[in-house]
Amino acid sequence: MDKFVIEGGKILNGSITASGAKNSVLPILAASIMTDSKSVIHGVPKLQDVYTMVKILEYLGAKVVFKNNTIEIDPSTIARYDAPYEFVKTMRASISLLGPMVARAGKARFSLPGGCVIGPRPIDLHIKGLQKLGVDIKIEDGFIVADAKNGLKGNYIFLAGAFGSSVLATANVMCVAALSKGETVIEFAACEPEITDLANFLVKMGAKITGIGSPCIIINGVKKLKGVEHKIIPDRIETGTFLLAGAITGGKVTVEKCQPMHLGAFIERLTETGVQVKSGKNYITVSGIPRWKPVDVVTFAYPGFPTDLQAQMMAFLSLADGVSVITEKVFPERFIHAGELNRLGANIQLDGSKAIVKGVEKLLGAKVMASDLRASAALVLAGLVAEGRTEVSRIYHLFRGYEKFEEKLRALGASIKREKDTLQ
Ligand code: UD1
Repeated sequence: MDKFVIEGGKILNGSITASGAKNSVLPILAASIMTDSKSVIHGVPKLQDVYTMVKILEYLGAKVVFKNNTIEIDPSTIARYDAPYEFVKTMRASISLLGPMVARAGKARFSLPGGCVIGPRPIDLHIKGLQKLGVDIKIEDGFIVADAKNGLKGNYIFLAGAFGSSVLATANVMCVAALSKGETVIEFAACEPEITDLANFLVKMGAKITGIGSPCIIINGVKKLKGVEHKIIPDRIETGTFLLAGAITGGKVTVEKCQPMHLGAFIERLTETGVQVKSGKNYITVSGIPRWKPVDVVTFAYPGFPTDLQAQMMAFLSLADGVSVITEKVFPERFIHAGELNRLGANIQLDGSKAIVKGVEKLLGAKVMASDLRASAALVLAGLVAEGRTEVSRIYHLFRGYEKFEEKLRALGASIKREKDTLQ
């Protein structure tokens, strides 16, 4: 296993280009199996999660070529409709294949994903949505066994759970509804830009969808879809992470080819800390300041502050001039990074789904361990500004979701290198 070794204190300056959105490409690749003709997807980031998705698609029987950030997929040879635990446990987003499999074949046998470090992560909304469309669902030996032997039929579906909308449940239901008979109304649909990207992809394929981007999506089922060419939207979480990397070091960093409109809540909060944020049509620049103000942050489904930027924002606020309160409303247990940030000298106390972040004057380098994708990014951000040397182990989490992470940081002037972790 590899670790990152970071020499803190370098001020980051310059610009990087945003990669394609991980959370867009995964459900879009999944949806590309809902036809027998080829699709070509551009702007695909080279990430572990994408490689895992490609592996599953190949396991199902699809022919996939992944070259230069473009994936060509020929799903005509797909012959199996099961997803074993080995795949689902390495990448929870593989659940986004459940809907497309059922839409394509009227059946699927899918391993239950189970919990993960950011919380219990139920899938009741996926199941409820599919049942409403006529899919019979049984749980057998740790598998979801889905069968639509009586055909797929549109319906009215209220798709909210205790924590609001669900991104991938919306994706699954939208895919099945696209090939169901009649009209489906998804009330309380997720409004995330990645869901809009998927809906636009499905529309290109021939689906009839209105209300895209709103909490009420209406789908009129069609008999057949076709393969298409599509470009993935920029990754808003990667963009936010690099802007925070600039801000935490007091530098001036621009992310180019990003979509500022997708980061409204984040830009708003960051601006309130006193950091200067300037954005144009497809770029955002932050200009750091020596010490920033604390702010309270509440994560919500889009257009709220993204839970996927909560850990990175916590690292940033740990150096604010005062106390910030972070409330996690999407995954209330997603605070595993707080303890590791404290090892670097932060002062963070947890109280249920709240983190009380008392700003400290400086962080000090130490050995820390990454626990999940975004928590790893938060530890690297802290390491960039911590005095001395920080070692972040288990960085394989990072490569699930960030393309050329250390190369991009180095291009901005960070001192970060990858080494073998002999202790693991
Ligand atoms: C997606 C993102 C993930 C992000 C999350 C929230 C992808 C590949 N992943 O995950 O990066 O952190 O959205 O923005 O797009 N819930 C239920 N029942 C369900 C499904 C979800 O109660 O059946 C709950 C979850 O536990 C959570 C909330 O709903 O509290 C939102 O989760 P959800 O939007 O489903 O997350 P994912 O789609 O898995």
